[in-house]
Amino acid sequence: MAATIVLANRKGGSGKTTTTINLADGLARQGKRVLVVDADSQAQSTISCGIMPYQLAVSIYELLHIRMADPEADSEIATTIIRGKQRFDLIPSKPDLSALEIELADISNCQSLLRDLLLEVENIYDYILIDLPPSLGLITVNGLVAANWLLIPIEPTFLSMDGLAQMTNILYKVNAELNPELRLMGIVPIKCDMRTNLARNVVEEIRQNFGDDRLLPAVRNDIKIAEAPSFGKTIFEYAANCRGASDYMQLAQSIIARSGD
Ligand SMILES: Nc1ncnc2c1ncn2[C@@H]1O[C@H](COP(=O)(O)OP(=O)(O)OP(=O)(O)O)[C@@H](O)[C@H]1O
Ligand SMILES: [Mg+2]
Repeated sequence: MAATIVLANRKGGSGKTTTTINLADGLARQGKRVLVVDADSQAQSTISCGIMPYQLAVSIYELLHIRMADPEADSEIATTIIRGKQRFDLIPSKPDLSALEIELADISNCQSLLRDLLLEVENIYDYILIDLPPSLGLITVNGLVAANWLLIPIEPTFLSMDGLAQMTNILYKVNAELNPELRLMGIVPIKCDMRTNLARNVVEEIRQNFGDDRLLPAVRNDIKIAEAPSFGKTIFEYAANCRGASDYMQLAQSIIARSGD
């Protein structure tokens, strides 16, 4: 059964999408079968894989929409998954997904649509990574209910600590009310420049608050990481020898060790 990891942080631009795509490729290069679920209407994981959302006939939106209308209906998940574009598979997103927030608001028990959908494929993959939007809407709730691990990427700045505290509260609430299985995999400092006092202090604060074992290997600031999506490539495809690639490979190895695989 797959380890399902949701990447979440209420703070925008904290590295959720970048980490989803590069971690997915890192895990795949370690021989793991990986599915990425783009659950953000910005569709940036999809675009980062070189896929243009407006060209898609089906996406996560249609899958959730069908399931919402009729839980017994045949899901089109097998035909929606994009295979062979990367070393990992992808359920893509498109901007229509933003409409689902409004549609979901009208129905009860809509928090587990994504979990039910992923049940169909959890035996095919070792890891399912879910990329979430920064907002705390019903799509995000679906992502938190569908996962058994929470991974929080964070840019080590003063204001990020507030976002981290909010995420911890959200985890407690989800554990208590919706998904007792969800556990904190760890916190990944992203865009990290350990030469600055700020980054060192914030990383130290994370270590003190969460413990050594929840502080995951940091990903250093590397312009190659920011460039890679414009070529539809992961960091391993774009610049295999750069420090960003080596940081993401170390992160992938650490995730494999932690998820008990
Ligand atoms: N290690 C890094 N070095 C340099 N730039 C990075 C690094 N990691 C991420 N970035 C850049 O930081 C920006 C924000 O990253 P990303 O889009 O992954 O954040 P996000 O949390 O998914 O944002 P959103 O909340 O909007 O979904 C992007 O331009 C990305 O290329
Ligand atoms: Mg994103």
